[in-house]
Amino acid sequence: MISGPQSTPGVAPAPAALLRFPPGFLWGAATSAFQIEGSTSADGRGESIWDRFCRQPGRVAGDGTGEPACDHYRRWPEDVALMARLGLGAYRFSVAWPRIFPTGGPPLNQKGLDFYRRLVAALREHGIMPMITLYHWDLPQVLQDQGGWAARDTALRFAEYAALLFERLGDEVPLWATINEPMLITYAGYAGRTKAPGVGRPRQTLAVAHHLLLAHGLAVRAFRQIIGRSASIGMVLNLRPCHPASRRPRDVRAAQLLDTLTNRLFLEPLFRGRYPDLALHFFHRRFVPLPAAPGDMAIIAEPADFLGINVYVRVLAAASNPLMGARQVPGPGPKTAMGWEIYPACVSEALALAREYTALPLYLTENGAAFADHPGPDGAIDDQERIAYLRAHLVEAHRAIAAGADLRGYFVWSLLDNFEWEDGYGPRFGLIYVDYTTRARRLKASAQWYAEVIARNGVPME
Ligand code: FCB
Repeated sequence: MISGPQSTPGVAPAPAALLRFPPGFLWGAATSAFQIEGSTSADGRGESIWDRFCRQPGRVAGDGTGEPACDHYRRWPEDVALMARLGLGAYRFSVAWPRIFPTGGPPLNQKGLDFYRRLVAALREHGIMPMITLYHWDLPQVLQDQGGWAARDTALRFAEYAALLFERLGDEVPLWATINEPMLITYAGYAGRTKAPGVGRPRQTLAVAHHLLLAHGLAVRAFRQIIGRSASIGMVLNLRPCHPASRRPRDVRAAQLLDTLTNRLFLEPLFRGRYPDLALHFFHRRFVPLPAAPGDMAIIAEPADFLGINVYVRVLAAASNPLMGARQVPGPGPKTAMGWEIYPACVSEALALAREYTALPLYLTENGAAFADHPGPDGAIDDQERIAYLRAHLVEAHRAIAAGADLRGYFVWSLLDNFEWEDGYGPRFGLIYVDYTTRARRLKASAQWYAEVIARNGVPME
């Protein structure tokens, strides 16, 4: 049972204006394994690329590591109880591949699987729909040693890992996301160096993107064989609406280029079975190879059931030197603690972009913001900025639904304050505050507000 208003903390009397969402709209929150679990060597877990990356000096702010993060691996019952208190309809979390297959492939580490079995069972007992992300960036280090996502074999290994989870958890998990944000994996992890594995080889760009897409397609095929149509599967893309910084044709072209390289490089193969010409041309001129084999594009375009969209920012693009063609310039709006411009229309624009390619159901699988939250003298965390942020972005989601988008759900990033990758433990994205000395959890004002949104299936407009 999903808890109603009575069991929800601090529900105010019905507000005058309520922006109602469609009946059955799924209200969720999201996390990922490496960002919250800790216990990175417990119960036979293997090393991941993020464990290795965090140990390299200067990679992560404050030398943060995945240990102990939010200690969710041990405190998960408390976290599920908090989710139930908020009345969450769904919880999106990721499975750590190195807990299942510590060396990338069989044999199975049963204790690792058992952790997720228990979590899924507890969620279901509380009426919270589990949504599993199969890959949220924590590749087994063993596979990276063999080339990681630049190697075709990693896509085949991923399909094997995915199939194991479909077999073991397929009956209990209605929503499955294959890969989270292939764009950031490609550009920040392989072409660039800011995220694990931090390779820094632009010539790997297309190989990595292609193998991630191939991994997705192979997993969708395995899903159909093992689970069929009784559950749903899709990829999660982070879409960034791209705007020209001025009306000058060179800036307009720069925006088109960034839009193509970041958004359409993934949308077009998934939904049209081909790469955008502009991207192929761009990479060809830079001697970036595309290692596609015959039949790959059909695998990549294997029909999925939904598209997950993570949305945080828009991009303002200006022309730059001929080598790069485009650069990003800062937007004029107010900023979050990440320095990201607050631009709520990014939600409706990202949904419109997705609808250019697909009529599939859509989920906003991540949206949220970091602010400098700290407990007041009474211990309360009054994060009004986050409430304003969530409200403004939900208004845009509602606008998109009114315009015809088949949007089925919304997941706040994040349930808990957690390890924010190369930025360490500085940025706090959670609805729930985590004290990093004691690991104690405390609901922020935004959590109470979100509980009210869920209970009313609508957004109070005051
Ligand atoms: C997204 C990631 C997620 C989190 C948010 C802030 O790109 O998917 O893990 O770091 O950004």
